[in-house]
Amino acid sequence: MSDRRCALVTGSAGGIGRAVVARLVAEGFDVVACDLRPQDGGVACDLTTREGNRAAVDAALERHGRLDAIVANAGMQHVAPVAEFPEDRWDELIALMLTSPFLLARYAWDALVQAPEGGRFLAMASAHGLVASPFKSAYVSAKHGVVGLVRTLALEGAEAGIVATAICPGFVRTPLVERQLAAQAQAHGLPEDAVLRDVILAPHAIKRLLEPEEVADLVAFLLGPTGRAFSGAPIPIDLGWTAR
Ligand SMILES: NC(=O)c1ccc[n+]([C@@H]2O[C@H](COP(=O)([O-])OP(=O)(O)OC[C@H]3O[C@@H](n4cnc5c(N)ncnc54)[C@H](O)[C@@H]3O)[C@@H](O)[C@H]2O)c1
Repeated sequence: MSDRRCALVTGSAGGIGRAVVARLVAEGFDVVACDLRPQDGGVACDLTTREGNRAAVDAALERHGRLDAIVANAGMQHVAPVAEFPEDRWDELIALMLTSPFLLARYAWDALVQAPEGGRFLAMASAHGLVASPFKSAYVSAKHGVVGLVRTLALEGAEAGIVATAICPGFVRTPLVERQLAAQAQAHGLPEDAVLRDVILAPHAIKRLLEPEEVADLVAFLLGPTGRAFSGAPIPIDLGWTAR
C-alpha cells in the first residue's frame, strides 16, 4: 500500500478535471484519473454504466492499494425546452452527474472508511445545484440531486470519519462552456463575445469566467485539514451568482 493519499478524479480529460489532477499531483496525491476519453495513463471508463464506475474504483485500489478521496467531476450539458428535451439525454445526464457519484461512493465506501486520515468525497456540482435556469432541466435536476447525495453521505459517513462536500461553481472557462458559447452564438445570431457578456455572464455579479485553476484550488483546500469542517455543505464559487 502506498503511503501517499490516493485520489480518484473523474472527467479528468476536461477543463476542470485536468486542472484538479495537476493540482492534486502537485499536492502529493497518487491520482487515478478517469474519463471516457482519458489522457496520459488515465483509466478509460464510461461512468454512465455500473461497470464503468466499478472499474474506476477497482483501478484505484489495484494501483495504489487504497482510496482516500473521490472527486466526482465528470459532467455534460444539454440545452432544450422541457417539452422537446430528448428522453435519452435526460437519462444520460442523470446517470453521469447523479447516479455515477452515488455508485462511486457505494463501491468505494469501505475504502473511504479505512482511509487513515479519513475518507473524502467531493462532488463537482454547480451553481445550478442551488438555483435553476431555463432549458437545462436535466442538468439542474442532476446537480440539485447530487447536493442532496452529498448531504446524505456527510451524515452517514460522519462517525466513520468520512467528509463529503459539494462544490458549486459558476461558469468556468472550459470546453463545456466554449461549446455553449458557439451553440448560443449560432442560435442568437450574435458574435461569441456578445453571447459571453449578455447571455453566459448575465448571472455573474463579477463579469468574468472562473478559471479551472481557481476551482482546483478549492478542491485542494477542501481535501486539506480545514476541509473537514465543510462536510455536508454545498460551497458556491460563483462570482456572486447565488448572492442574488
Ligand atoms: N464549466 C463550467 O462552467 C461548470 C460550471 C459548474 C459546474 N461544472 C461542472 O464541472 C464538471 C466538469 O466540467 P468541465 O467544464 O470541466 O467539462 P468538460 O466538458 O471540459 O469535461 C467533462 C469531462 O467529462 C468526461 N465525460 C463525459 N461523459 C463521460 C462518461 N460517460 N464517462 C466518463 N467521463 C465522461 C468528458 O470526456 C470530459 O473530459 C462537470 O460536472 C460540470 O457540470 C462546470
